[in-house]
Amino acid sequence: MFANTYKGKRILVTGHTGFKGSWLTLWLKDLGADVCGYALAPNTTPNLFEAVHVAEGIKSVIGDIRDRELLNKTFQEFQPEIVFHLAAQPLVRLSYTEPVLTYETNVIGSLNVLEAARACGSVKAFVNVTTDKCYENKEIARGYKEDEPMGGYDMYSSSKGCVEILSSSYRRSFLQQPGAYALATARAGNVIGGGDWALDRLIPDCVRSIEAGNEIEIRNPVATRPWQHVLEPLSGYILIGYLLLTQGAKYAEGFNLGPKPDSVLTVADVAQQVVKNYGKGSVHVHKRDNLHEANLLMLDITKAKEVLGWWPTYTAPEAIEKTVAWYKRFYQGEPMRGFTLQQIHEYEEKITWKKN
Ligand SMILES: NC(=O)c1ccc[n+]([C@@H]2O[C@H](COP(=O)([O-])OP(=O)(O)OC[C@H]3O[C@@H](n4cnc5c(N)ncnc54)[C@H](O)[C@@H]3O)[C@@H](O)[C@H]2O)c1
Repeated sequence: MFANTYKGKRILVTGHTGFKGSWLTLWLKDLGADVCGYALAPNTTPNLFEAVHVAEGIKSVIGDIRDRELLNKTFQEFQPEIVFHLAAQPLVRLSYTEPVLTYETNVIGSLNVLEAARACGSVKAFVNVTTDKCYENKEIARGYKEDEPMGGYDMYSSSKGCVEILSSSYRRSFLQQPGAYALATARAGNVIGGGDWALDRLIPDCVRSIEAGNEIEIRNPVATRPWQHVLEPLSGYILIGYLLLTQGAKYAEGFNLGPKPDSVLTVADVAQQVVKNYGKGSVHVHKRDNLHEANLLMLDITKAKEVLGWWPTYTAPEAIEKTVAWYKRFYQGEPMRGFTLQQIHEYEEKITWKKN
């Protein structure tokens, strides 16, 4: 895949100890890349980083993106060619109790990473991971396009809207001259997949309840979300990195990497499908709580299809099935690195856009 472009390439991944970062690091390593990760230590037990031994065979730096000195030192020593920036405070509910931490990490931290990359002449391509929540959510029924206004009701969403504005300004202010790196942003929605144990995310909550023998408590049952497997946006990030590196500034824009339009399900539906695939557990639906969470948010992925030649591979039920299969194996005590790579290879086999 990706014409062997990643073989031997030096790639810096921020957030490699997290859920998406662990999958991405493993995949890049499998593509033959030389990877350096930079992030805080994992903050859940269990966690994917340790479950699949992500640190094996890479350079893993435990550091804070707010620590400019260590960040710059890491860039200068490793001399990356491509940067995937995923480190963030990614939780909406935590952003209500930790607004300063959320902005310091997501906005100032991102600026620090952009600056460390600029100070390091080796960087050619930078993929900045934001979210579908960066858009001003008007709760409209159609999908959002890339040129619609940034916004965000809660502190997490608005911090990511800020990162989009920052990236656009940064590109125009500093990245126009020859030799500057090409910077793209990638906006994906809620992802699911094995190895996420974050608080206040539906599938981890379901799995924790099932494994503890408790009912699954659903607090916002009619909220609809587009659901996609974690490998979908990651394949898009890797594709964008490849295109930025091989064809440069032509791809230095924002891209929506959303799921198929029919992947929109209510949280109650998803919980029921988790129970069905697990073969055990039950669901208890509650009334809504008071914290505002956006009701409907979909992405229009026409640009990703037309410009990148990328589109989603799995249906929502397939994504749920793969995710549950992963957790079941984990809780049966099986070694997970091989199975995780197997799921990556199955996904690679199934994607059709790679032939374009
Ligand atoms: N999981 C989703 O559904 C989803 C959806 C859209 C966008 N995203 C984005 O994808 C990225 C990864 O999300 P995730 O789900 O893997 O989250 P995660 O919480 O599992 O991982 C976050 C990573 O960021 C690191 N990090 C946090 N604060 C840091 C700091 N101050 N310095 C250095 N590292 C720090 C953590 O150590 C961890 O490695 C985030 O940018 C998130 O906003 C996630």
